[in-house]
Amino acid sequence: MTDKEKRELCLRALETMKNSYSPYSQFKVGAVLLCRDGMVYEGCNIENSAYSPTVCAERVAVFKAVSEGVKDFSAIAVAGGHDGHVTGQITPCGVCRQVLAEFAGGDLVVLAVKSCDGEYDEFTLGELLPHSFEL
Ligand code: THU
Repeated sequence: MTDKEKRELCLRALETMKNSYSPYSQFKVGAVLLCRDGMVYEGCNIENSAYSPTVCAERVAVFKAVSEGVKDFSAIAVAGGHDGHVTGQITPCGVCRQVLAEFAGGDLVVLAVKSCDGEYDEFTLGELLPHSFEL
C-alpha cells in the first residue's frame, strides 16, 4: 500500500465518521476497512438509548464485510472525535481488536487518523493486540 492510498483511506474514514449516530456520547467514529480483493467497507459507531447495544465503527465495517462473504482484510483506517472534531488519534477498542484478530493476522495495518487533513499514525494489529485470544 502506498502512502497516497493510506491517506485516501484515512480521508474516507473522516467522511464516514459524519454518518455516526452518537447522540449519547457525541463522539463520532468512522472506520474504513480495505480488503485484499480491493473491496472497501465503511462503518460508523451506532449508539442506543439502552447503551449496551451500541456498536463501534470498526465492528460495523468488519461485520458488513463478513456478512457479504469477505474475510481477507489488509488495512483499517479509524477516525474519531468529539462532535466529529478530530484532535488526535484513536485506535480500535479492545473488543474491536479481538474481532479484527478473528479474521486478520498480526500484520493487519491499522491507520489511526490524527488530523482532519487525514494525517495518520500507523500500527499493526499485532502491536495493538499481542497475545490475542485463540481457542
Ligand atoms: N467507539 C468506536 O466506534 N470505536 C472505538 O474504537 C472506540 C469507541 C465509539 C463507541 C461509542 O459510540 C463512542 O465511540 C464513545 O465511546
